Amino acid sequence: MTTSKRIGRAEACANIALAKYWGKSDLGDNLTAVPSLSLSLDALRTRTEVVFDEHLEHDLVSMGGQELTGRPLERVSAHLDRMRERAGFKLRARVKSENNFPTAAGLASSASGFAALATAAAQAAGLSLSKGELSSFARKSSASAGRSLFEGFAILDAETDHSQALAPRDHWDVAMVVAVITAGPKPIGSTGGMEHTKRTCPYYPAWEQVARSVFDQVKSGVERRDFTQVAEAMEHSTRLMHATMISSLPPVLYLKGPTVELMHEIHRRRALGEPVAYTMDAGPNVKVLTTAPHVDATVAFLQATPGVQRVIVCRPGPGASTLSAAGPLLEAARDDDLAMPAFSLPNTAARGMGS
Ligand code: DP6
Repeated sequence: MTTSKRIGRAEACANIALAKYWGKSDLGDNLTAVPSLSLSLDALRTRTEVVFDEHLEHDLVSMGGQELTGRPLERVSAHLDRMRERAGFKLRARVKSENNFPTAAGLASSASGFAALATAAAQAAGLSLSKGELSSFARKSSASAGRSLFEGFAILDAETDHSQALAPRDHWDVAMVVAVITAGPKPIGSTGGMEHTKRTCPYYPAWEQVARSVFDQVKSGVERRDFTQVAEAMEHSTRLMHATMISSLPPVLYLKGPTVELMHEIHRRRALGEPVAYTMDAGPNVKVLTTAPHVDATVAFLQATPGVQRVIVCRPGPGASTLSAAGPLLEAARDDDLAMPAFSLPNTAARGMGS
Protein backbone atom coordinates (compact mmCIF):
# COMPACT_ATOMS: atom_id res chain seq x y z
CA MET A 1 0.00 0.00 0.00
CA THR A 2 1.43 3.40 -0.91
CA THR A 3 1.52 6.27 1.56
CA SER A 4 -1.03 8.25 -0.44
CA LYS A 5 -3.55 5.46 -0.03
CA ARG A 6 -3.35 5.60 3.76
CA ILE A 7 -5.16 8.91 4.12
CA GLY A 8 -8.86 9.34 3.64
CA ARG A 9 -11.16 12.29 4.23
CA ALA A 10 -14.91 12.53 3.95
CA GLU A 11 -17.96 14.61 4.73
CA ALA A 12 -21.44 13.28 5.48
CA CYS A 13 -24.71 14.97 6.42
CA ALA A 14 -26.94 14.01 9.32
CA ASN A 15 -30.34 12.65 8.39
CA ILE A 16 -33.74 12.78 10.03
CA ALA A 17 -36.09 9.83 9.84
CA LEU A 18 -39.52 10.78 8.47
CA ALA A 19 -40.50 7.14 9.16
CA LYS A 20 -38.67 6.03 12.30
CA TYR A 21 -36.95 2.88 13.30
CA TRP A 22 -36.63 2.06 17.02
CA GLY A 23 -35.46 -1.41 18.00
CA LYS A 24 -33.03 -3.92 16.58
CA SER A 25 -33.86 -7.16 14.81
CA ASP A 26 -33.36 -10.48 16.62
CA LEU A 27 -31.23 -11.49 13.64
CA GLY A 28 -28.35 -9.43 15.10
CA ASP A 29 -25.68 -7.61 13.04
CA ASN A 30 -27.27 -4.29 14.12
CA LEU A 31 -30.13 -4.85 11.66
CA THR A 32 -33.26 -2.85 12.41
CA ALA A 33 -36.60 -4.40 13.36
CA VAL A 34 -38.61 -2.02 11.17
CA PRO A 35 -37.89 -0.13 7.93
CA SER A 36 -37.12 3.59 8.02
CA LEU A 37 -37.07 6.48 5.56
CA SER A 38 -34.96 9.60 5.99
CA LEU A 39 -34.14 13.02 4.61
CA SER A 40 -30.49 14.13 4.42
CA LEU A 41 -29.91 17.49 6.17
CA ASP A 42 -27.41 19.71 4.37
CA ALA A 43 -26.64 22.05 7.26
CA LEU A 44 -25.71 19.36 9.82
CA ARG A 45 -22.45 17.75 8.84
CA THR A 46 -19.47 15.71 10.01
CA ARG A 47 -16.00 15.85 8.50
CA THR A 48 -13.59 13.02 9.26
CA GLU A 49 -9.99 12.22 8.43
CA VAL A 50 -8.54 8.71 8.77
CA VAL A 51 -4.82 7.98 8.56
CA PHE A 52 -3.64 4.38 8.81
CA ASP A 53 -0.16 4.56 10.31
CA GLU A 54 2.31 1.70 10.80
CA HIS A 55 3.82 3.50 13.81
CA LEU A 56 0.62 3.38 15.87
CA GLU A 57 -0.08 0.63 18.40
CA HIS A 58 -3.71 1.64 19.04
CA ASP A 59 -6.38 3.60 17.24
CA LEU A 60 -6.37 7.25 18.32
CA VAL A 61 -9.66 9.04 17.80
CA SER A 62 -10.45 12.67 18.47
CA MET A 63 -13.85 14.26 18.10
CA GLY A 64 -14.12 18.03 18.23
CA GLY A 65 -10.56 18.07 19.62
CA GLN A 66 -11.37 15.64 22.48
CA GLU A 67 -9.65 12.24 22.57
CA LEU A 68 -12.21 9.45 22.77
CA THR A 69 -11.89 6.69 25.39
CA GLY A 70 -14.08 3.82 26.60
CA ARG A 71 -17.19 2.77 24.68
CA PRO A 72 -17.13 5.57 22.05
CA LEU A 73 -13.53 4.65 21.16
CA GLU A 74 -14.40 0.93 21.05
CA ARG A 75 -17.25 1.67 18.64
CA VAL A 76 -14.92 3.47 16.23
CA SER A 77 -12.25 0.75 16.57
CA ALA A 78 -14.81 -1.98 15.87
CA HIS A 79 -15.80 -0.09 12.71
CA LEU A 80 -12.15 0.21 11.67
CA ASP A 81 -11.62 -3.51 12.41
CA ARG A 82 -14.31 -4.38 9.86
CA MET A 83 -12.65 -2.10 7.32
CA ARG A 84 -9.19 -3.56 8.10
CA GLU A 85 -10.52 -7.08 7.69
CA ARG A 86 -11.99 -6.19 4.30
CA ALA A 87 -8.72 -4.50 3.24
CA GLY A 88 -6.57 -7.35 4.59
CA PHE A 89 -4.24 -5.39 6.87
CA LYS A 90 -3.95 -4.58 10.55
CA LEU A 91 -2.64 -0.99 10.61
CA ARG A 92 -4.00 1.18 13.42
CA ALA A 93 -5.46 4.57 12.59
CA ARG A 94 -5.47 8.17 13.71
CA VAL A 95 -8.99 9.55 13.28
CA LYS A 96 -9.98 13.18 13.53
CA SER A 97 -13.66 14.08 13.37
CA GLU A 98 -15.54 17.37 13.58
CA ASN A 99 -19.27 17.98 13.80
CA ASN A 100 -20.68 21.42 13.07
CA PHE A 101 -23.56 20.81 15.53
CA PRO A 102 -24.02 19.52 19.10
CA THR A 103 -22.98 15.90 19.53
CA ALA A 104 -25.24 13.22 21.11
CA ALA A 105 -28.18 15.61 21.53
CA GLY A 106 -30.64 13.81 19.30
CA LEU A 107 -29.36 15.60 16.20
CA ALA A 108 -28.12 12.41 14.53
CA SER A 109 -24.39 12.85 15.15
CA SER A 110 -23.78 9.09 15.02
CA ALA A 111 -25.47 8.96 11.60
CA SER A 112 -23.26 11.57 9.94
CA GLY A 113 -20.31 10.44 12.06
CA PHE A 114 -20.26 6.80 10.97
CA ALA A 115 -21.18 7.62 7.36
CA ALA A 116 -18.20 10.00 7.19
CA LEU A 117 -15.98 7.46 8.98
CA ALA A 118 -16.91 4.62 6.61
CA THR A 119 -16.25 6.80 3.56
CA ALA A 120 -12.94 8.18 4.86
CA ALA A 121 -11.70 4.81 6.18
CA ALA A 122 -12.49 3.02 2.92
CA GLN A 123 -10.57 5.66 0.99
CA ALA A 124 -7.65 5.45 3.42
CA ALA A 125 -7.65 1.66 3.12
CA GLY A 126 -7.56 1.90 -0.67
CA LEU A 127 -10.94 0.19 -0.98
CA SER A 128 -13.26 1.16 -3.77
CA LEU A 129 -16.72 0.45 -2.36
CA SER A 130 -20.18 1.24 -3.69
CA LYS A 131 -22.56 3.50 -1.73
CA GLY A 132 -24.49 0.37 -0.76
CA GLU A 133 -21.36 -1.31 0.63
CA LEU A 134 -20.33 1.84 2.51
CA SER A 135 -23.87 2.10 3.86
CA SER A 136 -23.61 -1.46 5.13
CA PHE A 137 -20.35 -0.67 6.96
CA ALA A 138 -21.89 2.48 8.47
CA ARG A 139 -25.12 0.69 9.45
CA LYS A 140 -23.26 -2.00 11.39
CA SER A 141 -21.91 0.77 13.66
CA SER A 142 -25.04 2.89 13.91
CA ALA A 143 -28.14 1.83 12.01
CA SER A 144 -29.29 5.33 11.06
CA ALA A 145 -25.80 6.01 9.61
CA GLY A 146 -26.63 3.57 6.81
CA ARG A 147 -28.99 6.24 5.45
CA SER A 148 -26.46 9.10 5.51
CA LEU A 149 -24.52 7.79 2.53
CA PHE A 150 -27.35 8.78 0.21
CA GLU A 151 -28.54 12.14 -1.02
CA GLY A 152 -32.08 13.37 -0.49
CA PHE A 153 -34.52 10.69 0.64
CA ALA A 154 -33.14 7.27 1.68
CA ILE A 155 -34.55 3.95 2.81
CA LEU A 156 -33.12 1.44 5.26
CA ASP A 157 -34.85 -1.91 5.00
CA ALA A 158 -35.70 -3.98 8.08
CA GLU A 159 -34.00 -7.27 8.92
CA THR A 160 -31.83 -7.22 5.84
CA ASP A 161 -28.59 -5.54 4.90
CA HIS A 162 -30.11 -3.32 2.28
CA SER A 163 -30.44 0.43 1.92
CA GLN A 164 -31.14 2.60 -1.07
CA ALA A 165 -31.76 6.11 -2.34
CA LEU A 166 -35.49 6.74 -2.77
CA ALA A 167 -35.31 10.17 -4.42
CA PRO A 168 -32.60 12.78 -5.05
CA ARG A 169 -32.39 16.04 -3.15
CA ASP A 170 -34.11 18.07 -5.86
CA HIS A 171 -37.12 15.72 -5.85
CA TRP A 172 -39.05 17.95 -3.45
CA ASP A 173 -38.43 21.56 -2.44
CA VAL A 174 -38.87 21.15 1.29
CA ALA A 175 -36.86 22.14 4.35
CA MET A 176 -36.39 20.74 7.82
CA VAL A 177 -36.13 23.56 10.34
CA VAL A 178 -34.48 22.39 13.56
CA ALA A 179 -35.59 23.99 16.81
CA VAL A 180 -32.83 23.29 19.35
CA ILE A 181 -34.39 23.03 22.79
CA THR A 182 -31.36 21.63 24.50
CA ALA A 183 -27.94 21.09 23.00
CA GLY A 184 -26.74 18.95 25.95
CA PRO A 185 -26.14 15.20 25.71
CA LYS A 186 -29.23 13.03 26.07
CA PRO A 187 -29.81 11.09 29.32
CA ILE A 188 -29.68 7.71 27.58
CA GLY A 189 -28.23 6.92 24.15
CA SER A 190 -30.36 5.49 21.34
CA THR A 191 -28.79 2.02 21.50
CA GLY A 192 -29.50 1.56 25.22
CA GLY A 193 -32.85 3.34 25.00
CA MET A 194 -34.21 1.05 22.30
CA GLU A 195 -32.91 -2.12 23.98
CA HIS A 196 -34.66 -1.07 27.18
CA THR A 197 -37.86 -0.26 25.28
CA LYS A 198 -37.87 -3.61 23.53
CA ARG A 199 -37.43 -5.39 26.87
CA THR A 200 -39.93 -3.49 29.00
CA CYS A 201 -42.56 -1.73 26.86
CA PRO A 202 -45.80 -3.72 26.65
CA TYR A 203 -46.69 -1.97 23.37
CA TYR A 204 -43.40 -2.75 21.63
CA PRO A 205 -44.81 -5.67 19.53
CA ALA A 206 -47.62 -3.38 18.35
CA TRP A 207 -45.06 -0.75 17.33
CA GLU A 208 -43.18 -3.32 15.24
CA GLN A 209 -46.41 -4.20 13.44
CA VAL A 210 -47.74 -0.70 12.78
CA ALA A 211 -44.36 0.86 11.90
CA ARG A 212 -44.35 -0.94 8.54
CA SER A 213 -47.64 0.51 7.37
CA VAL A 214 -46.67 4.00 8.59
CA PHE A 215 -43.42 3.61 6.62
CA ASP A 216 -45.47 2.78 3.50
CA GLN A 217 -47.58 5.91 3.98
CA VAL A 218 -44.51 8.13 4.37
CA LYS A 219 -42.89 6.51 1.33
CA SER A 220 -45.84 6.99 -1.01
CA GLY A 221 -46.34 10.53 0.33
CA VAL A 222 -42.72 11.43 -0.44
CA GLU A 223 -42.92 9.82 -3.88
CA ARG A 224 -46.02 11.89 -4.71
CA ARG A 225 -44.77 15.01 -2.85
CA ASP A 226 -47.98 14.99 -0.85
CA PHE A 227 -47.23 17.28 2.11
CA THR A 228 -50.35 16.45 4.09
CA GLN A 229 -49.85 12.70 3.81
CA VAL A 230 -46.19 12.93 4.83
CA ALA A 231 -47.01 15.36 7.66
CA GLU A 232 -49.62 13.07 9.17
CA ALA A 233 -47.67 9.84 8.73
CA MET A 234 -44.38 11.37 9.94
CA GLU A 235 -46.00 12.77 13.08
CA HIS A 236 -47.74 9.45 13.69
CA SER A 237 -44.42 7.61 13.36
CA THR A 238 -42.87 10.05 15.88
CA ARG A 239 -45.69 9.67 18.42
CA LEU A 240 -45.78 5.88 18.09
CA MET A 241 -42.04 5.69 18.71
CA HIS A 242 -42.11 8.07 21.69
CA ALA A 243 -45.13 6.24 23.11
CA THR A 244 -43.08 3.03 23.32
CA MET A 245 -40.28 4.94 25.07
CA ILE A 246 -42.60 6.65 27.55
CA SER A 247 -44.41 3.40 28.39
CA SER A 248 -41.16 1.56 29.16
CA LEU A 249 -40.25 0.83 32.77
CA PRO A 250 -38.59 3.00 33.97
CA PRO A 251 -39.62 5.40 31.20
CA VAL A 252 -37.32 6.76 28.53
CA LEU A 253 -38.64 10.30 28.31
CA TYR A 254 -36.71 12.50 25.90
CA LEU A 255 -39.42 15.12 25.35
CA LYS A 256 -39.37 18.37 27.34
CA GLY A 257 -42.08 20.95 28.03
CA PRO A 258 -41.25 23.15 25.01
CA THR A 259 -41.29 20.03 22.79
CA VAL A 260 -44.89 19.28 23.75
CA GLU A 261 -45.89 22.96 23.47
CA LEU A 262 -44.51 22.94 19.93
CA MET A 263 -46.47 19.79 19.05
CA HIS A 264 -49.69 21.65 20.00
CA GLU A 265 -48.67 24.82 18.18
CA ILE A 266 -47.71 22.98 14.99
CA HIS A 267 -51.05 21.14 14.95
CA ARG A 268 -52.84 24.45 15.45
CA ARG A 269 -50.95 26.07 12.58
CA ARG A 270 -51.46 23.14 10.20
CA ALA A 271 -55.18 23.21 10.91
CA LEU A 272 -55.08 26.84 9.76
CA GLY A 273 -53.43 25.79 6.49
CA GLU A 274 -49.71 26.26 7.21
CA PRO A 275 -47.45 23.51 5.78
CA VAL A 276 -45.67 22.54 9.02
CA ALA A 277 -45.20 19.14 10.67
CA TYR A 278 -43.03 17.97 13.56
CA THR A 279 -40.72 15.08 14.25
CA MET A 280 -38.42 14.29 17.18
CA ASP A 281 -35.72 11.65 17.49
CA ALA A 282 -34.15 10.44 20.74
CA GLY A 283 -34.07 13.94 22.20
CA PRO A 284 -36.28 16.96 22.88
CA ASN A 285 -35.32 18.96 19.78
CA VAL A 286 -38.13 19.49 17.30
CA LYS A 287 -37.53 19.24 13.56
CA VAL A 288 -40.19 21.01 11.56
CA LEU A 289 -40.85 19.92 7.99
CA THR A 290 -42.07 22.73 5.77
CA THR A 291 -42.12 23.78 2.12
CA ALA A 292 -39.62 26.19 0.55
CA PRO A 293 -41.90 29.25 0.45
CA HIS A 294 -42.79 28.77 4.10
CA VAL A 295 -39.27 28.61 5.58
CA ASP A 296 -38.98 32.24 6.71
CA ALA A 297 -42.36 32.16 8.45
CA THR A 298 -41.42 28.86 10.15
CA VAL A 299 -38.09 30.25 11.32
CA ALA A 300 -39.80 33.38 12.66
CA PHE A 301 -42.36 31.45 14.68
CA LEU A 302 -39.78 29.02 16.07
CA GLN A 303 -37.43 31.85 17.07
CA ALA A 304 -40.29 33.49 18.94
CA THR A 305 -41.17 30.26 20.79
CA PRO A 306 -40.18 30.16 24.49
CA GLY A 307 -37.63 27.42 25.20
CA VAL A 308 -36.19 27.37 21.68
CA GLN A 309 -32.49 28.23 21.97
CA ARG A 310 -31.51 28.14 18.35
CA VAL A 311 -33.01 27.51 14.93
CA ILE A 312 -31.15 25.79 12.08
CA VAL A 313 -32.52 25.62 8.54
CA CYS A 314 -31.69 22.40 6.69
CA ARG A 315 -32.40 21.72 3.06
CA PRO A 316 -32.33 18.25 1.49
CA GLY A 317 -28.66 17.34 1.60
CA PRO A 318 -26.24 15.45 -0.62
CA GLY A 319 -24.81 12.01 0.07
CA ALA A 320 -21.42 11.42 1.66
CA SER A 321 -18.37 12.43 -0.34
CA THR A 322 -14.63 12.09 -0.01
CA LEU A 323 -12.70 15.35 0.37
CA SER A 324 -9.51 16.70 -1.10
CA ALA A 325 -6.40 15.80 0.92
CA ALA A 326 -5.03 19.35 0.62
CA GLY A 327 -5.36 22.04 3.28
CA PRO A 328 -7.21 22.00 6.60
CA LEU A 329 -9.95 19.36 6.98
CA LEU A 330 -12.70 21.92 7.54
CA GLU A 331 -11.83 23.80 4.36
CA ALA A 332 -11.19 20.83 2.05
CA ALA A 333 -13.27 20.70 -1.16
CA ARG A 334 -15.68 17.82 -1.74
CA ASP A 335 -14.54 15.41 -4.44
CA ASP A 336 -18.06 15.43 -5.89
CA ASP A 337 -17.52 19.18 -6.50
CA LEU A 338 -20.81 20.13 -4.85
CA ALA A 339 -20.93 23.67 -3.55
CA MET A 340 -22.06 23.56 0.07
CA PRO A 341 -22.64 26.30 2.62
CA ALA A 342 -19.62 26.97 4.87
CA PHE A 343 -18.98 24.16 7.35
CA SER A 344 -19.44 26.44 10.36
CA LEU A 345 -23.08 27.08 11.10
CA PRO A 346 -24.26 30.66 11.42
CA ASN A 347 -25.35 31.62 14.94
CA THR A 348 -28.92 32.23 13.92
CA ALA A 349 -31.19 30.90 11.23
CA ALA A 350 -30.18 33.74 8.94
CA ARG A 351 -29.34 31.29 6.15
CA GLY A 352 -32.15 31.59 3.65
CA MET A 353 -33.42 29.18 1.08
CA GLY A 354 -31.13 30.45 -1.65
CA SER A 355 -34.06 31.13 -3.90
C1 DP6 B 1 -34.69 7.72 17.01
O1 DP6 B 1 -29.18 4.64 14.61
O2 DP6 B 1 -28.63 6.18 16.52
O3 DP6 B 1 -33.08 8.42 15.43
O4 DP6 B 1 -27.82 1.89 15.70
O5 DP6 B 1 -27.88 2.02 18.15
O6 DP6 B 1 -26.56 3.73 16.84
P1 DP6 B 1 -27.76 2.81 16.90
O7 DP6 B 1 -29.04 3.74 16.92
P2 DP6 B 1 -29.36 5.00 16.02
O8 DP6 B 1 -30.92 5.16 16.34
C2 DP6 B 1 -31.62 6.22 15.80
C3 DP6 B 1 -33.06 6.11 16.11
C4 DP6 B 1 -33.88 7.32 15.78
C5 DP6 B 1 -34.87 7.00 14.66
C6 DP6 B 1 -34.27 6.86 13.30
O9 DP6 B 1 -33.29 7.55 12.99
O10 DP6 B 1 -34.84 6.07 12.51
